Amino acid sequence: MTEKLWGGRFSKKTNPLVEEFTKSIQYDHKLAKYDVLGSLAHVKVLKKAGYLSAKEAAKLSAGLSVIYRSVENGSFKPDPAAEDIHTNIENILMQKAGETALKLHTARSRNEQVAYATKLYCKEKINELDKAASALITALNKLSVKYKGLIIPGFTHLQHAQPVYAKDYLGAYIEMLKRDKNRLGFIAANIKLTMGAGALAGTPIQASKYEHAAVNSLDSVSDRDFIAEILSALSIIGMHLSRLAEDLIIWSTKEFGVIAIDDAFCTGSSLMPQKKNPDVLELIRGYAGRLYGNLVSVLTMMKGLPLAYNRDMQLDKEPLFESFELGLSELKVMTGLIATLKFNKDKIADQLEDESLYATDLVYYLVDKGVAFKNAHTIIGKLVAYSVNNAVSIQGMDDYELRKFSDKLIKKEIIKLFDPLISVKSKRSIKR
Ligand code: ARG
Repeated sequence: MTEKLWGGRFSKKTNPLVEEFTKSIQYDHKLAKYDVLGSLAHVKVLKKAGYLSAKEAAKLSAGLSVIYRSVENGSFKPDPAAEDIHTNIENILMQKAGETALKLHTARSRNEQVAYATKLYCKEKINELDKAASALITALNKLSVKYKGLIIPGFTHLQHAQPVYAKDYLGAYIEMLKRDKNRLGFIAANIKLTMGAGALAGTPIQASKYEHAAVNSLDSVSDRDFIAEILSALSIIGMHLSRLAEDLIIWSTKEFGVIAIDDAFCTGSSLMPQKKNPDVLELIRGYAGRLYGNLVSVLTMMKGLPLAYNRDMQLDKEPLFESFELGLSELKVMTGLIATLKFNKDKIADQLEDESLYATDLVYYLVDKGVAFKNAHTIIGKLVAYSVNNAVSIQGMDDYELRKFSDKLIKKEIIKLFDPLISVKSKRSIKR
């Protein structure tokens, strides 16, 4: 039998439409474990404050522990008729601990319960996310080691720019993920598991009886900053993974052909038998939109809410749960894909023949000979344009032709510059 946590004031039964419309059990059952942990902490407080005898406290704790274990071993079945998980668990406790369970809600409100349980859930999920991000960093590191000396064309505006080490390219994503981990760490450290807020005004229990008494009870029950922060961090992770996905999608095309994604991480077409599609990467790219949407949904829901708790806040859960789950599965699937990724060295070698990749090195060459950078830039710009317009390679030009652009351009010297290794080695500004 499903009991409400309120009802004394009402002379009519709740309209079934209202029951359906207001309930959150269909998703907040995910908070079961954390709600029980909050209740166990609350039992300790009630005992210290003298609201529960040692025997009563033991009885409630024992009942709660049984529920806890059922959640952990997967046998806990949420009651679809309950209003929410907090109601559901108190009802179960009534069956297990009888009348004593009626005392559990002393000096307590669901407003605090839901905030406390959600915070605990977030701390645990952040931990999982942190581990998943570390696993992806490890996979990227391994790939970097495997292709240690490999040089690839670097792009800006998706146009050939300058040669770079593959390990530096992969390292850029490692840096992003490290920042993601730091961001999550700051957020987790900032989540305070406070108690004693009651519904909004505090409780008759001395602050000293609580492990972390609320500094401000109104804020404590109505703060959802941590959710906005997490959704923002997850949006940024989604953005990073979407960028990586996009790079890999482009690189795996026939036109680029510089990487091969493992068969196990691609899908096919029902009509075209030749297709090997990067659907996993496309979904990672697509889900970034969902992650951003969840952030915007919670920020918009919170905007303009008067203090303290309002039922609107119940709507923070689905976006929060979904974003955590998406972030985790994206990190995991990307880790598998990166661990099996292969670079196509031959195709990369062909691409590195493009002379335009070394144009900047020619500018530095002239600068070293005393030409002002801007002038050197113009000279090489003209040289490149001449080479493109007349379909002649710079390396094929003799000293007489080169001198038309600058008498400082000496063929036997510049010819050495069209070398990816010389190009990357000449960049000394990077702290490795
Ligand atoms: N399920 C609700 C939520 O997630 C619990 C809080 C209800 N509190 C109230 N005062 N009606 O927000």
